[in-house]
Amino acid sequence: MASVKEMDTYAKLWMKEAGSRLRASFNTKLDIEMKTNPNDLVTNMDKGIEKFFCDKIGEVFPDHRIFGEEGMGNDIKDLKGTVWIIDPIDGTLNFIHQQRDFAISLGVYVDGIGKIGMVYDVVSDELYHVIKGQGAYMDDQRLPTLPSASVNRSIVSINASWVTENRRIDPSLLAPLVRDARGTRSYGSAALELAFVAAGRIDAYITMRLMPWDFAGGVLLVEEVGGEVSNIKGDKLNFLEGDSLFVSKPGLHKEVFDKYLSGDTGL
Ligand code: IPD
Ligand code: CA
Ligand code: CA
Repeated sequence: MASVKEMDTYAKLWMKEAGSRLRASFNTKLDIEMKTNPNDLVTNMDKGIEKFFCDKIGEVFPDHRIFGEEGMGNDIKDLKGTVWIIDPIDGTLNFIHQQRDFAISLGVYVDGIGKIGMVYDVVSDELYHVIKGQGAYMDDQRLPTLPSASVNRSIVSINASWVTENRRIDPSLLAPLVRDARGTRSYGSAALELAFVAAGRIDAYITMRLMPWDFAGGVLLVEEVGGEVSNIKGDKLNFLEGDSLFVSKPGLHKEVFDKYLSGDTGL
């Protein structure tokens, strides 16, 4: 069986190579297609990078399975064995419109347990990485354990969608959190937002709908530095079908559940 160290070494090499390909694509004309609606886009690079990972993983670890956003891996119905969960570009809208603030996200799970997490901020060339139990890093810099935090001194990452009319949450629930926090942000890449929580750059990230490839890498970073991870109901995440997500520094989780999400929230 492949060792975690071996997978980690290859994964880092592949992340860097994929990142170079994405940066090089800035000088080319993208082929952009619509997926489910006009705001849900995919490019030739999303597909090309996922294929790149599938080819590399297939060559070196032929018995591993791949769970990727663009569907070039396996049809995943369980997390038995070793599964690489990959988002080739997290933040495709940023990639297309802004050429920044997007990431490659990768998580390696063995029998459902997260072993390796990586989020590569391609334009800043910052690789956030963790081997479970061995510390989380940004490049060579170890990320310290997160201190506790309270809402009124926190920067909370939340998309404005969740405090205006939407299909998933009563907008009046989280509006007071937005009001009480020191500030709010929205970066448009869940993987980056998770990495920023792990690095202490933001204090919490809340969102109502993500897929496993959005968070499989980043939640391992957050957990490693003592952050709290759950869905919006406070339950464990669903790594097969996707889920809502709430990650934060210690202390903030309880404060948010007690003050803003207690009682009958309809969630
Ligand atoms: C999206 C980004 C975005 C989040 C969306 C995701 P994509 O991923 O993470 O921040 O709000 O829910 O779908 O489509 O750019 O890979
Ligand atoms: Ca994504
Ligand atoms: Ca994506």
